[in-house]
Amino acid sequence: MNVPVNANKPMTSIQSLFSVTGKNVLVTGGSRGIGEMIAHGFAAAGANVLITSRDETACQVTAAKLSCHYVASNVATVTGCDQLVQHVDTLFGGKLHVLINNAGTSWGEPLERRSKTGWGFDKVMDLNVKGLFYLTRACIPLLQNAATVEDPARVINIGSVVGLVPQDAPTHAYDASKAAVHNLTRKFASDLASKHITVNCVAPGFVPSRMSAGLKSWGADHEALASQTPLQRLGNADDMAGACLYFSSRAGSWCTGVILNVDGGAVGAMTIPLRSEL
Ligand SMILES: NC(=O)c1ccc[n+]([C@@H]2O[C@H](COP(=O)([O-])OP(=O)(O)OC[C@H]3O[C@@H](n4cnc5c(N)ncnc54)[C@H](OP(=O)(O)O)[C@@H]3O)[C@@H](O)[C@H]2O)c1
Repeated sequence: MNVPVNANKPMTSIQSLFSVTGKNVLVTGGSRGIGEMIAHGFAAAGANVLITSRDETACQVTAAKLSCHYVASNVATVTGCDQLVQHVDTLFGGKLHVLINNAGTSWGEPLERRSKTGWGFDKVMDLNVKGLFYLTRACIPLLQNAATVEDPARVINIGSVVGLVPQDAPTHAYDASKAAVHNLTRKFASDLASKHITVNCVAPGFVPSRMSAGLKSWGADHEALASQTPLQRLGNADDMAGACLYFSSRAGSWCTGVILNVDGGAVGAMTIPLRSEL
């Protein structure tokens, strides 16, 4: 096997260490919220960005703001994923450098309500877990076409701190789905390393968005959440885009299978209380 040994390689210039210029990037759920924040970062850094979500008008409006490409798709179905990948293939000439699996949804109800349909639980799993699996699998040939040893193709999954520690809300499907995203990250990282495709996960804490606004119905309050966060604020566009740009640039090219908490210390700086407040 011909494995390059480059122990004495000089450091890349600082301009190109974090560069993603010219890379072809797909951001699912890029029409708003965290997906828009990430797409904005890549577009501003000179990448060729394609955003997608189910609402074509919302995609069009966001794409006009960011000067990027858009297409409507439903990545909660196998057919939707396959159609999207065909579009990516044509638009980007067969090469995808970065896939960002960001689209996600949530649902919750108190255990005692016992809805019979199971619709909410299935909706969450169909998008957050199954859609991520089917889209990543379908993108492998396009990622391989873009990958080299020095500059692998990248898959970045958006997990959540609640995949590590469940939140205090009846969001059983969501919390379980994000734990599954973290484990699928490691599974795909192992599968795809030999194809020079890295697979990492950004696990955000609380970032204001349409989805996180829904947590208000379970009593979440932005100010309280910010003050309970060790670093005393909620997440923002710099935090979300910055983590994804790191994984996608030369700087992050030797990382795979990593779950990066970007959460103001909510998980990493957590301690077990030993006594009640005096
Ligand atoms: N906000 C937070 O505090 C937070 C914290 C940790 C993790 N996250 C994760 O971050 C990701 C983005 O969340 P967000 O807060 O930005 O949520 P959001 O504001 O609700 O945005 C979700 C995005 O996904 C799209 N989407 C939903 N269903 C889709 C489908 N079936 N096919 C394609 N696109 C679909 C939505 O557009 P359409 O509805 O038009 O399809 C929208 O663009 C999610 O994976 C979420 O779990 C969020």
